[in-house]
Amino acid sequence: MAAPEGGGRAGRLVASPANVRRFAVLGCLLATLATVWPLRAEETPSPQRPRRISFLVLASDRVVWERIGKEFEAAHPGTAVDVVEGPNATDLRENLYTASLLAGDDSFDLVYMDVTWTAKFARWLVPLEAEFRSAELAALLPAAVAAGRYGGHLYRIPVRTDVGVLYYRRDLLESAGLPPPRTFADLTRVARALQAPPRLWGFVWQGSQYEGLVCVFLEVLRGYGGTWVNPETFEVGLDRREAVDALEFLRRCRVGEEAISPPGVTSYKEDESRRLFQDGRAVFLRNWPYVWRLAQEPGSPVAGKMGVLPMVHGPGGERSGTLGGWGLGVSRFSREPELAVEFIRHVISLPGQRALCRETGYAPALAEAYVDPELLAANPFLPDLLRIHGNAVARPVIPEYAMASDILQRHVSAALAGLASPEAALGEAARETRLLLGPDRGGRSPVRPWRDTRFLASVRNTAVFTGASIALETLLGVAIALLLHRTFRGRGLVRAITLLPWALPTAVMALAWGWIFNDSFGVANDLLGRLGLAVQPVAWLSSPASAMAALVLADVWKTTPFVALIVLAGLQGIPLEVLEAARVDGLGAWQRFRRIVLPLLAPSILAAVLFRAIQAWGAFDIVYVMTGGGPGGSTETVSLYAFQAYFRYLDPAHGVWIAVNGFLLPALVSALLVRLARPRWRRS
Ligand code: GLC
Repeated sequence: MAAPEGGGRAGRLVASPANVRRFAVLGCLLATLATVWPLRAEETPSPQRPRRISFLVLASDRVVWERIGKEFEAAHPGTAVDVVEGPNATDLRENLYTASLLAGDDSFDLVYMDVTWTAKFARWLVPLEAEFRSAELAALLPAAVAAGRYGGHLYRIPVRTDVGVLYYRRDLLESAGLPPPRTFADLTRVARALQAPPRLWGFVWQGSQYEGLVCVFLEVLRGYGGTWVNPETFEVGLDRREAVDALEFLRRCRVGEEAISPPGVTSYKEDESRRLFQDGRAVFLRNWPYVWRLAQEPGSPVAGKMGVLPMVHGPGGERSGTLGGWGLGVSRFSREPELAVEFIRHVISLPGQRALCRETGYAPALAEAYVDPELLAANPFLPDLLRIHGNAVARPVIPEYAMASDILQRHVSAALAGLASPEAALGEAARETRLLLGPDRGGRSPVRPWRDTRFLASVRNTAVFTGASIALETLLGVAIALLLHRTFRGRGLVRAITLLPWALPTAVMALAWGWIFNDSFGVANDLLGRLGLAVQPVAWLSSPASAMAALVLADVWKTTPFVALIVLAGLQGIPLEVLEAARVDGLGAWQRFRRIVLPLLAPSILAAVLFRAIQAWGAFDIVYVMTGGGPGGSTETVSLYAFQAYFRYLDPAHGVWIAVNGFLLPALVSALLVRLARPRWRRS
């Protein structure tokens, strides 16, 4: 049969019977291979292939877990333990595990879990009560084991515990003749007496919008006698006086007359705050037990100069630390569940606990380890930790924990950033938490999608981010393209170098930019200081406007080369004769640019803007890594919110609703842009 009229090459290629046959055979072959390959791999296990188990840990823990893995492999020949390195922030690792388990993926046999994940992850885990003898469980700290129980089953075996503590510079307090503080008022007084900012700050803690902020707030709240959520009655105590006092204390730490914390504290996670203290630049630090070992290492400016206390308290409250800690669960999708259980058994044995806690300074989960001479020699403050543990405040074990925590994080962070008063922020947090945990609870979003103010805020944030990034990228991109269009020596090399940022993975560059904008150690402040442009360090990621500016700058750095590339291609398409004719006609350089180059470039610029608008509107990784949507949700984009709803709150309907509605708007704008541009394109 003749090819239909007007059928081009592509039409003939697809329609030709020979090609159809070829495609069919190739398709069948591929399909057979795809189905047979895994079967064959399963059916014929190679005698050399070891039985493997794998799990994800925070990056800084990889080495120690690999060592434990090697010990396990030596004791169990024919096995292999794969330790996968994940991000340091708790929430980010939670999201990685969630995404994998939600997909029914078998990449992780073990789930290395925070105390707060049990209820949410239970659906994907193997119940473990029958796998461990009661004597084995009784040897572990009871509160840590309790955190692994949910719905009558045990899903998580604790391998290390954590409790929030207050580190202090014993040397400074002693030489000033000041006793260690007992109350919040003492802490403020001593910190103010000893601090000399920005060289030495009074008190550093974790103020970034993430799980660590909840831990800090919770122990201050307990210090004022308040509660967050009662896990039995679901009563919410966030709008009570004690909660407002607790938040006011944290706010006063950072702003106003009595400030004892750096403004940038609201962008610190564990490690940023630890580094400042370990550098000898803070009198007090709220953190976890792991800091002790690192700060005592040879060369540390605070080695031998520090002490540790339970968190201080206020009127009507008690000294307490938030209960943290990590445990192992076994994935339902694991192909080696028995081996995974054996591995856990190894980790909670005394040798396993020594291997895990000796060098890291982690608090063990095994009670016996607290009196073990080998561990005591490495961590002499273990008995203090055990005492602090006795009065630790636990976070509620509820399936909706991630959402409850995010509500608290967002509103506390908003109050710290000055976006709302402590009363207003906590009032709103209490209302949202009550809706979440109310009578028709069930993990749903606390708001109906169409009344979702967080959605509207995310649309606004995304619009600001997209508008600002595109405006800057277009101006810079055109300027760079004009420069690169000129002939000069080494032009090829310069073009290649200019493109480099574009080639870097966004998450990697976002991590680097996060440190560049760190208020105490970042290059940005160092440069500003050297140039005499800033007297005080700028707390870039701590206020909504500067956090957004930091995001835009990082994005502009990465994506301007893309705009430049497209505009350069457009420039190369402009016939030289046209420019030459204009020059002969007496048009100056600026006139030639405005009247000839720019109109002819318009389609390229518009194409670049369109591509970038689509990309920027979908911005996720850069925000996720640099600000996590904070402070106070002020940089949360539509994609980030959709992701949180889907993967963190496990509310797919809401996630999809956000994604669809959030993207309708830019789709309409893009359609409008194309429509407006069409007549121009036709003309040009
Ligand atoms: C520590 C704690 C964990 C807590 C986290 C917050 O890793 O062990 O329980 O959730 O810090 O950042």
